[in-house]
Amino acid sequence: MIQKDPSNKIINLAKCIEKRNRTAQVLKKKNRGGKTRVIAITSGKGGVGKTNIVANLGYAFSMLGKKVLILDADIGLGNLDVLLGLAPRYNLSHVIMGQKSIKEIIISGPGKMKILPASSGIQELTSLSQDQKIKLLAQIDELIDSVDILFIDTAAGISSNVMDFSVTAHEIIVVVSPEPTSITDAYALMKVLSLKYSEKCCYLLTNLVANAQEGKEVFRQLNLVANKFLDINVDYLGSVVFDEKVTNCVKHQKIVSELYPDTLASRCYNELVLKIAGRRPKKLPQGDTNFFWRHLMKDNFV
Ligand SMILES: Nc1ncnc2c1ncn2[C@@H]1O[C@H](COP(=O)(O)OP(=O)(O)OP(=O)(O)O)[C@@H](O)[C@H]1O
Ligand SMILES: [Mg+2]
Repeated sequence: MIQKDPSNKIINLAKCIEKRNRTAQVLKKKNRGGKTRVIAITSGKGGVGKTNIVANLGYAFSMLGKKVLILDADIGLGNLDVLLGLAPRYNLSHVIMGQKSIKEIIISGPGKMKILPASSGIQELTSLSQDQKIKLLAQIDELIDSVDILFIDTAAGISSNVMDFSVTAHEIIVVVSPEPTSITDAYALMKVLSLKYSEKCCYLLTNLVANAQEGKEVFRQLNLVANKFLDINVDYLGSVVFDEKVTNCVKHQKIVSELYPDTLASRCYNELVLKIAGRRPKKLPQGDTNFFWRHLMKDNFV
């Protein structure tokens, strides 16, 4: 029987520590007060409305005078720019390839919110290496102080891209629609958040519901199983009703809150903004650690 050489394990461990130390050099800075809220919007199933939610919440917050930055973290298949009718020249793929700095790719959207656009149709970027993620997050970290809220619009599912971007945030909002497949996928996502990433809490937001009652019922069902089988606290954030005006606005590359501020969906987005603004984030950077640092140091990340 061939015995495995134990020195390989030690070499790998040494490499891992060296990589962490290198990242520490790049990222360690003085405490900047941790005033910026970082909120990830994610989902198990695709097409449940994450990008529309991010765009509308971002717009509503910027209308309240907040400085908003949105990271389109659906790196290989991003479409936030398309939704907003923007045509960026450069995107995150140029940053990842080292051709542009993060500051050079920022564009302005409606309500003066700032956007870091993703590329679309680059398959290799749908699963970034840990090194690529660390370098990207380190660059984004440079921008943190200049904004009040950073929204992260993730891809759907439980890939490492989705999970790593979600767990770097202070608050995770899981979006779910009333479809049974969306509910089971949301549960699967929470399970991974809890078991693999040791997340202790997340918010649930129901979208495409007929009314507020249906949204609450979806939460009740999910919360029941999460309470029974997972060590994660699920807080209900609220719901957004199905509204044809949203679909029409998507076709015209406009956001509904801007075009129809009084329509049902826009009212729901505004209610959510009030709820988010009224809640204190459960985790915030402490001491002289900066925003991403704590997560980059986690075993499951590096
Ligand atoms: N409240 C709503 N009422 C009606 N239609 C909606 C609503 N929210 C989203 N939609 C529709 O759902 C579609 C998908 O929305 P969106 O692109 O925001 O989902 P997503 O979760 O970001 O998708 P992906 O997982 O592919 O990134 C949109 O084309 C839009 O028309
Ligand atoms: Mg999307």
